[in-house]
Parts: sequence; structure tokens; C-alpha cells
Amino acid sequence: MKAVLCTGFGPPENLSLADIAPHAPAPGELAVTVRACALNFFDTLIIAGKYQYRPQFPFSPGAEIAGVVKAVGDGVGGFRPGDRVIGYLGWGGCREEVVAAAEKFVRLPEGLDDAVAAGLTVTYGTTLHALKDRARIEPGETLAVLGAAGGVGQAAIEVGKLMGARVIACASSDDKIAFCKSLGADEGFNYKDADLKDGLKRLTDGNGVDVVYDAVGGDLSEPALRAIAWRGRFLVVGFAAGGIARIPLNLVLLKGCDIVGVFWGEHIAREPEAHRANMAQLLDWAARGRIAPHIHKRYSLAETPEALRALAAREVKGKAVVVP
Ligand SMILES: NC(=O)c1ccc[n+]([C@@H]2O[C@H](COP(=O)([O-])OP(=O)(O)OC[C@H]3O[C@@H](n4cnc5c(N)ncnc54)[C@H](OP(=O)(O)O)[C@@H]3O)[C@@H](O)[C@H]2O)c1
Repeated sequence: MKAVLCTGFGPPENLSLADIAPHAPAPGELAVTVRACALNFFDTLIIAGKYQYRPQFPFSPGAEIAGVVKAVGDGVGGFRPGDRVIGYLGWGGCREEVVAAAEKFVRLPEGLDDAVAAGLTVTYGTTLHALKDRARIEPGETLAVLGAAGGVGQAAIEVGKLMGARVIACASSDDKIAFCKSLGADEGFNYKDADLKDGLKRLTDGNGVDVVYDAVGGDLSEPALRAIAWRGRFLVVGFAAGGIARIPLNLVLLKGCDIVGVFWGEHIAREPEAHRANMAQLLDWAARGRIAPHIHKRYSLAETPEALRALAAREVKGKAVVVP
């Protein structure tokens, strides 16, 4: 089978496409034919050796897949060859076939497109955990999403709207803002050359936003916190801009607000029941068309380096998906 391989940490162009032998599932595992592998920003970090996980070489990038069960290992219940599934693997998805523990997969409802389904786990799972479990967002509250046109950003727009929030999408271009509005955002703010704190205050009549969803970090975190409302919740989701802000704690006191960490990878390991319930909710919404991740582009396995380059260059709107 064909697999995209990382054989040493480096940029996307160092990845290679190789023919490797598939293997049979061990007890407790499934072998799954990959129909689509959705990429995430952190794939650009894993292949560069800059992420919290450092897999052994050679490995394939790609954390989340949709596919069809090819073979079932001994002792696995609830799956049969031919079942359509999605799964979170951490890495290893950019190949024609994967083998992993059965508990990493859930069955897909009928009718969902493979490329759309592949992108439901990481970004939407993170976002539902963030908005529901961590921010406890209430209908009628305002939600500012930074990096709103990206993967977790588009999920925050869609899930925020479903939870009844007024969503302010913040991004670096008017084109991205228009995209966010097409997903349902109520307002947009282009932070490229404008002050984020002033913009968010203006859009909330001076009251500030109830929840900030920060997937960008860097120079945007502090102005966003300065625009938070009394008893607001600031969700620390990611640092796509590279920098990690040092926050003056007096701001937290003065606003009576919470700075809340969101670590989905630990959440699914430590709170598997809550994770399963969140995935059931997301699959139900997806099956009923209430969330519909936008696919920026479908790439072939050979085009995986180009997809990762585009992610790192802030060119992707929604999800980049590799279709083997
Ligand atoms: N906490 C968790 O459990 C969790 C789970 C999943 C992902 N994350 C993190 O969330 C962040 C976003 O992930 P994603 O997959 O949604 O990424 P993405 O699709 O690439 O979106 C990230 C957005 O960040 C903005 N950005 C600003 N500076 C950037 C830079 N130098 N390079 C790239 N993007 C930049 C871009 O929007 P503009 O151009 O509009 O600024 C871009 O659309 C990452 O840091 C990721 O590791 C965290």
C-alpha cells in the first residue's frame, strides 16, 4: 500500500511517498481502508519535531480518518468488515490502510461524505469540549473566535451558533471574514491592521465578549482578554501564531474572568465517557446537516506536502483533506 512517510524531522517537502506492506490487525485492533484523512495545523508541527508527541520514524502524518473496516482482530465486538468508521489516531493516517486499537474508532451514520466525516473528530471534538465542558457557554452570550476561518475556528462558529451564542468571527482578511459569515457567524472582525480590543468592544457596545476562543495566541491573546466581559471565560486552545502570551494577572482580577485551558487529547484519555457522549452529539448534528465542515481542498497522498505547506501558510479555509 502507499503511505506518506516522515523519516526525519523537517519541512513538508521532506516527506516521501512509499510502498509499504500492510499488516493484519492484532487482537483488539481493526484494519481500516482509509477513504479520507483530515489534516490539522499540529501535523505541520509533528513532522517538524515541534509538537508534544514525537513518533518513532518512519511515521505518517494525519491524525483523523474516515474509512471502511477491512479486517477485525480477535476479541473485537461491535465492528464488522464493511462498516464505515471515523477514528482519531494521533498520527499515521496519510496512507491507504491503518491498523489501530478498536476503541479509537466509532461507526459512522449513513449518508455522511468521507472527507466531511474525517474532519469531525479533532476540531469539532475540541470545540464542543471547549464551549460546553470548559466555558459552559449559555444561549445569548457573545463568543469571539480568533483564527475563525481555520479548522477549530470553523467548528467554533458552527458549534457556537448551535449552542445559541452570538458569534464574532475574527480573522486576518476580509475574504476569510466573508467565509466565516457564510458558515453562520453574526459579525466579523479583520484583525490584520486593526486593534482587536477596540473592535470587540465596539461590536459589543462596550460590554466586552463573554467567551473568547483563542486558537491563535501570539500578539492577539492579550488584546482579546482586555476585551472580555465581567465573568467572561478565555479559552486557551492553541498557538498557531507561534507565540505564547504572558498575561498580567491583574486583568483577570479586574474582570472577574476565568482563563481556561483546553486540552482535548488529555480530555479523551482521562474522560472517555464524556468524549464518547460529545462524539455522539457531533455525529447526530452532522447526520442532520446541522454541522457541515467546509472542505478547503481534497489532496491526493502525493500532494500531502502541498496541503501541509498551505496550512502553515494560513491559506486553508476550513479543512484540508487527503483522499488516498
Ligand atoms: N487545545 C487543543 O486540544 C487543540 C486541539 C486541536 C487544535 N489545537 C490547536 O489549535 C490551533 C489551530 O489549529 P487548526 O488545525 O484549526 O489550524 P488552522 O486550520 O491552520 O487554523 C489556524 C488559524 O490560525 C491563524 N494563524 C495566525 N497566525 C498563524 C500562523 N503563523 N500560522 C498559521 N496560522 C496562523 C490563521 O488564521 P488568520 O490568518 O485568520 O489569522 C489560521 O486560519 C493550533 O495551534 C492547534 O495546535 C488545540
